[in-house]
Amino acid sequence: MCQKNLSSLVSNLLSKHKGYFVTATGTDVGKTFITALLVKKWRDSGIDAGYYKAALSGAELRDGKWIAGDADYVKRIAGLADTQEQLVSYVYKEAVSPHLAAQKEGCPVELSKVQADFNAACSRHEFIFAEGSGGIICPIRYDHHKIFLVDIMKELGLPLLIVTTAALGSINACVLTIEYARSRGLDIRGIIVNRYGCSGNFEMEDDNIRMMQDLTGLEILAKVKEGDKDLGVDTF
Ligand SMILES: Nc1ncnc2c1ncn2[C@@H]1O[C@H](COP(=O)(O)OP(=O)(O)O)[C@@H](O)[C@H]1O
Ligand SMILES: [Mg+2]
Repeated sequence: MCQKNLSSLVSNLLSKHKGYFVTATGTDVGKTFITALLVKKWRDSGIDAGYYKAALSGAELRDGKWIAGDADYVKRIAGLADTQEQLVSYVYKEAVSPHLAAQKEGCPVELSKVQADFNAACSRHEFIFAEGSGGIICPIRYDHHKIFLVDIMKELGLPLLIVTTAALGSINACVLTIEYARSRGLDIRGIIVNRYGCSGNFEMEDDNIRMMQDLTGLEILAKVKEGDKDLGVDTF
């Protein structure tokens, strides 16, 4: 195990709460899909894992109720009993960045509520997977008070998992995300490759993965293919 992975492991062991913060190289890269497999894997291994998301935008109207699709998906795949209110602190209707959704719909994010809801999730579960919104530079609130996703990451104090693809352009997106996280003093546990093999060019994807590993010094924790129902690796 290299020094950086060891330091992530130590910080997770020493931090107040156990868990990981799942972020990605962008929106729609697979944070929710991967988080559902992570929560399920941990639970199948006998660890009471839960889910938490601070802010979701783009809720779906179902039978007169605004449903937070991400939380609903993870809840269904991993078999969680928590309510939507316990899983997500802020649910916005419009599928735009949370800062814009809050400007239009009201109810801007308060870090105190995020911390309180996260602490409550931690007291219900042994281990929490927190899912971010968008990519790493996601504005969460932008009025007289400014909150970015990294502020929430710092508040929760969990090591990061970075979800990326191995497609063309992924070295750039992945390394930039990791460099940015490091520049903000965040701890990163490792990288999860999603949709491995989707381009059909394994030579390129395998080289992209080697380059991401080499340029960041991080471990590739899992390679998940299209439609996989299991993470394919043990808990980490
Ligand atoms: N490995 C995969 N296999 C099949 N579908 C996937 C996979 N990864 C992501 N998807 C699908 O792609 C879409 C975007 O993924 P999602 O997890 O919602 O992204 P994010 O949470 O990063 O915005 C969803 O419809 C999701 O089910
Ligand atoms: Mg999501």
